[in-house]
Amino acid sequence: MCGIIGYIGNENAVPIILDGLKRLEYRGYDSSGIAVMNEDGFDVVKQKGRLSALEELVTRSSVKGFMGIGHTRWATHGEPSDINSHPHLGSQNKVAIVHNGIIENYRQIKERLEQKGIEFVSQTDSEVIAQLAEYYHAGDIVETVIRTANALEGSYALGIMCLDEPDKLIAIKKDNPLIIGVAEHGNFIASDVPAVLAHTNKVYYLNDKEIAILTKTGVEFYNMDREPIHKEPEIITWSLKSAEKGGYEHFMLKEIMEQPKVLKDTIQSAAGDGDNRRIIESLDISKFNRIVITACGSAYNAGMVGRYVFERLCRIPVEVELASEFRYKDPIVDYNTLVIIISQSGETADSIAAMREARRRGAVTLSIVNVIGSTIAKETDYTLYTMAGPEIAVATTKAFSAQLALLYILAVAFAKKLNRISDEEEGRLLSEIASLPDKAAEMLEKFDAIQKYAVTCVGCKSIFFIGRNIDYAIAMEGSLKLKEISYIHSEAYAGGELKHGTISLIEENTLVVAISCCEGLYEKIYSNVEQVISRGAKVLFIGNCIKAVPGEKLEIIELPKINEMFASSLSVIYLQLFSYYVAANKGLDIALIIESMHRTYEKQIFP
Ligand code: BG6
Repeated sequence: MCGIIGYIGNENAVPIILDGLKRLEYRGYDSSGIAVMNEDGFDVVKQKGRLSALEELVTRSSVKGFMGIGHTRWATHGEPSDINSHPHLGSQNKVAIVHNGIIENYRQIKERLEQKGIEFVSQTDSEVIAQLAEYYHAGDIVETVIRTANALEGSYALGIMCLDEPDKLIAIKKDNPLIIGVAEHGNFIASDVPAVLAHTNKVYYLNDKEIAILTKTGVEFYNMDREPIHKEPEIITWSLKSAEKGGYEHFMLKEIMEQPKVLKDTIQSAAGDGDNRRIIESLDISKFNRIVITACGSAYNAGMVGRYVFERLCRIPVEVELASEFRYKDPIVDYNTLVIIISQSGETADSIAAMREARRRGAVTLSIVNVIGSTIAKETDYTLYTMAGPEIAVATTKAFSAQLALLYILAVAFAKKLNRISDEEEGRLLSEIASLPDKAAEMLEKFDAIQKYAVTCVGCKSIFFIGRNIDYAIAMEGSLKLKEISYIHSEAYAGGELKHGTISLIEENTLVVAISCCEGLYEKIYSNVEQVISRGAKVLFIGNCIKAVPGEKLEIIELPKINEMFASSLSVIYLQLFSYYVAANKGLDIALIIESMHRTYEKQIFP
């Protein structure tokens, strides 16, 4: 996820673009840049680091112009650096672009262009767009954009300027958002409404493969056959503040809602033709006799889910260790051990220390990380990136889902390499995984039952989460999420463990959240549900194989059917929403608005 903005009009584009970038910073903040067109060509200022650094640089320069594009980046290809920052130019400096998305066939395009003598300066997938557009350009910019878009595989939202067309700003998109804003003094392209709301509330939403040609005075739309299309503008009624969160009250809810897209991007990168796939293919799993997963917090819980899937599919012993404990336990790892480190930020001090300890002992390390160029990503032997985009809310949601997706795909790939599953079985498992984004989207379209139930739980003093097998692992995440944001005491238990003491804490109206997606264990978990109800508990029963009927003490919420190994990805969505709505209805704004950008810093300083 990145943020893009463009302006063409009667005013100086520079302050307008900088202001728009500030409002898009939640979409990416590892680097930023701006390009404006003037009589001599493009003036480009871009650099690694937070937007405030760019602002300072631009203020010191004399950059000025009536048309420009800007970008705030969250790296997905090529680490954050000045060179990899956008905008990107073709090597003849004739075309400048900003891009949000992932170009899957960028390697092929790059190789082709390099063979023709074109020199690339960055490691990004985005530069190929500028180079290709310049290569194709024969005087007609619309034709150039159509040819370029036709050659691209993947997702993109693009802002394009071409020196031959000094009075046109061009936009096109596929699978990533782009809006066109229309104001008195000029016209805009932007990734999201907040970037333009200070100037106009009249916007057009661009559909996939629609082209917008903006001039100072108007905007025209075309399809890929160059036929003009008519679009109706929409009038935005949100305030600027709520618009920054896409209309959601908190970033946490916005990020929960982004999960179908994050799952899609992550699955594509690992099971399709992305960089993650190439890394997975290059790993020789046959030399490992054990896997150790180490992480903190929710990432540790993702590892717990992963362990069940790896062991079932690969029949390799897997241990999951808290990163904060790992280095103090004289861990048994050597060159026959694959150590997987999971971390959204890639900067959690304990996870870094665990990774270094594993390396010191000769283990092969593989990280599952969200932040490109982070310490863990850089220092491990292999790195898989979760395609979650920046996660602003401190309570992780979408990055956790992306971690699960990568663990599933890794387990399937290892099982295949070890000949534990046939080609057909591999195909079946991958298509189940590929169904996750649609099933997640379906759940997020009708979540009123979980929302209503959560409202009734705000007064709870203590909430228990139970499950068996993989459902127990995801119960741990449900419990952690709830404590973290609602400040309600909570515990997760394997259903069978309740009877060994904990059951005595269950009393009249204690809430127990039970999860049931492991069909073979349904009767077992149901018997735990009956036990706690008989002690007066009320139960929220979430699952996709539940046969019970709801009652005074029993609320049932159904999940879509899916292979039980991957069902945690669905149950966690309602567990996240449950925690969110309990916290929101308790009025716990503080917990919900803490932003992880600041936490990352804390994590490094205070291990
Ligand atoms: C905690 C966060 O501080 O760190 C959790 O609250 C997160 O949500 C944990 O899972 C680990 O962070 P990371 O960046 O290593 O995944």
